Amino acid sequence: MENKNNFKVDENLKHIAFIMDGNGRWAKARGMERPEGHKEGVKVFERVANTCFEFGLEAVTFYAFSTENWKRPPEEIQTIMSLLAMYLDKCGDSLIKNEVRFRVIGDKAGLDKDLRKKIKKLENESKQFKRTLNVAINYGGRDEIVYACQRLVSEGKEINKENFSLALYTEDCVDPDMIIRTAGERRLSNFLLWQSSYSELYFTDVLWPDFTDEDLKLAINDFYSRRRRYGGL
Ligand code: IPE
Ligand code: IPE
Ligand code: MG
Repeated sequence: MENKNNFKVDENLKHIAFIMDGNGRWAKARGMERPEGHKEGVKVFERVANTCFEFGLEAVTFYAFSTENWKRPPEEIQTIMSLLAMYLDKCGDSLIKNEVRFRVIGDKAGLDKDLRKKIKKLENESKQFKRTLNVAINYGGRDEIVYACQRLVSEGKEINKENFSLALYTEDCVDPDMIIRTAGERRLSNFLLWQSSYSELYFTDVLWPDFTDEDLKLAINDFYSRRRRYGGL
């Protein structure tokens, strides 16, 4: 893929995970309804995912819908789910063309049948590729941990850290080096609880629909200014 910006990450930054927050506030600030914020949010997700791969990342993860987001009004949930389905229809081919493996992390059984079908198709068609795009839908970190335990027990596997990591929704995906959360909130909101144990956390007040490639570069430069000690010296 052509990299117009000549900006590249190295082997110290393989995976960025995004908590895409602030769509509702973005819409409200413009006197619009919340769904308008989600529509804009999907466009930004599409662009940022492409930019991450242009920058040389091996994996990117986007938090699109949490297990707690079912508490929202049904119309808003419906909008988010149909935007995700539209994204799959629109972008599936280009992901395959760009050799990106698509994966949904989360409890897919809780999703609508048509959406599940689209997800399964794209996951199958892209499974041979190495670079990974994870989209977290109906995802909860605590659910994922319970799921991993159940999986290990049902497969009769020994419970150790290696097997546990592989039993998570993210399976063989490398842990996120950095988690970026937009819109000012400084919490994980049940995101990647196991995988984030040594992730660098980056918070910005920028609302997700306003998040630019320049904002991404700022986050990446901040990442490179940090020293990761992993408990050592
Ligand atoms: C993030 O934006 C998208 C989802 C959680 C689906 P929000 O919808 O949470 O936007 P705010 O936080 O209300 O502004
Ligand atoms: C986290 O955002 C979930 C997603 C981005 C999908 P929320 O807006 O749901 O998180 P809280 O409610 O502020 O913790
Ligand atoms: Mg929010």
